[in-house]
Amino acid sequence: MKKIIAANWKMHKTVSEARETSVTLKEMLKGKTLEDRSIVVFPAFISLPIVSEAFAGTEIFEVGGQNFYPADSGAFTGEISLPMLQDAGAKWIMIGHSERRHVLGESDAFIAQKTACALENGWKVMFCIGETLVEREAGQLQSVLQRQLETALNPLSGEVKAKLVGNLAIAYEPVWAIGTGKVAGPEEVLDAHKNVRQCLASLLPNLAEKLPILYGGSVKPDNASGLLLLDNVNGLLVGGASLEAQSFQKICEA
Ligand code: PGA
Repeated sequence: MKKIIAANWKMHKTVSEARETSVTLKEMLKGKTLEDRSIVVFPAFISLPIVSEAFAGTEIFEVGGQNFYPADSGAFTGEISLPMLQDAGAKWIMIGHSERRHVLGESDAFIAQKTACALENGWKVMFCIGETLVEREAGQLQSVLQRQLETALNPLSGEVKAKLVGNLAIAYEPVWAIGTGKVAGPEEVLDAHKNVRQCLASLLPNLAEKLPILYGGSVKPDNASGLLLLDNVNGLLVGGASLEAQSFQKICEA
């Protein structure tokens, strides 16, 4: 399975800054042998066309949207649809990020609706899950991960489930490690990823081993290679350390 290294630029970078970072990154990774890697960049919506253009013609880079509304068009002021994102060059879509769940108030039910919509329409989904510190300290790690996976994956049709390999990546991001500089320790990552794998095995028998599980939360150039060596860690989702081309390049090559 190829390791997926994903950059979540969140609400950072103007269009010109996004263009500059993408062009620099492409130059930096030119000629490097990264056959076992695939790199996905999630810029702000407004920068999607320019970032897609910057990466055009490369095998290794793909581009994704950080969010969408599950309707093709309509009276949804301020929202963006999958066809709009597709036209702007996106192939991936992020769903369930902790900032959408906890800052913007998205419910499990809405996240499930979005997941089904994106997968039914052939999108590659980066599905994010993770527990808060309060939940972890209350011993709820397993039940939270199980609930987040179950509510989104159980309702999928057989037809969609049959096409999940290559179209679904899970990103485990403990909420307490996002943007805090507190990376989860190897034992915590191993344990959580094993939990996710087991949960996938019960929800999607025969597919679980083929679905990548990424770790996210304060990934930096100096901890990336250690994380990638851990069992069941099939990639990284990087926020802060993906904003600088040089720092993200090091993570891509870790
Ligand atoms: P961080 O963010 O790397 O800045 O912790 C990760 C994420 O939110 O995806």
